[in-house]
Amino acid sequence: MSAERRRSIAIAITGASGAIYAVRTLAALLTESIHIELVVSDYGRRLLRDELGDEATLENLQPYLAGKYGREAERGTINLHSNRDLGATIASGSHGCSGMVIVPCSMKTLAGVAHGLSRNLIERAADVMLKERRRLIIVPRETPMSLPQLKNMVLCAEAGAMIMPAMPAFYQLPKTLDDIADFMAGKILSALGFEHDLYPPWTGQVASS
Ligand SMILES: Cc1cc2nc3c(=O)[nH]c(=O)nc-3n(C[C@H](O)[C@H](O)[C@H](O)COP(=O)(O)O)c2cc1C
Repeated sequence: MSAERRRSIAIAITGASGAIYAVRTLAALLTESIHIELVVSDYGRRLLRDELGDEATLENLQPYLAGKYGREAERGTINLHSNRDLGATIASGSHGCSGMVIVPCSMKTLAGVAHGLSRNLIERAADVMLKERRRLIIVPRETPMSLPQLKNMVLCAEAGAMIMPAMPAFYQLPKTLDDIADFMAGKILSALGFEHDLYPPWTGQVASS
């Protein structure tokens, strides 16, 4: 099936800490044969390398994902856009992208989305999701948070976005950073309507360690 006819999801990576959440989410969606419309801000690109190492470059992204998460991550496809290209497909509501995730989302991009600024493709594509009443998942990361930052999350939620802070749970008894990333990626996939086994469902009791 052509990339255009498969379900497509936009993923935006911005310059907040938590690049591992972005790559885990990408790998999990690609494993589901999803077509990804990918946009990465300048600081998102920097954080990928700062937090994941020199191999985690955009140019090398799919081999990196396949190496880390398995060749199943080659089932889907990625279309990489420049954040400066406001004429890209996903800048228009006529494009059939069914949802968007900003993971991780910086406080700067959060502010831009909250106020409908559309200064770059990430902000514009998010604005399109809101106006078209499509699923927009924002994964903000900052601590502590200022009142303007909190208000910006409220504005986005009121406009229809799902606010999913990068707040991993510990009742699954994670042992590695990958376990923690699996949990956040699993929450994102659930919110997009995908079944997954990124973490075991809650059984009513903490699993024994
Ligand atoms: C190492 C590093 C870590 C950062 N972590 C965060 C963070 O967790 N949350 C945040 O809102 N900004 C963080 N920033 C600041 C943003 O990267 C900065 O505000 C940037 O302008 C965001 O732009 P963008 O939203 O276009 O990516 C960090 C910057 C650096 C260099």
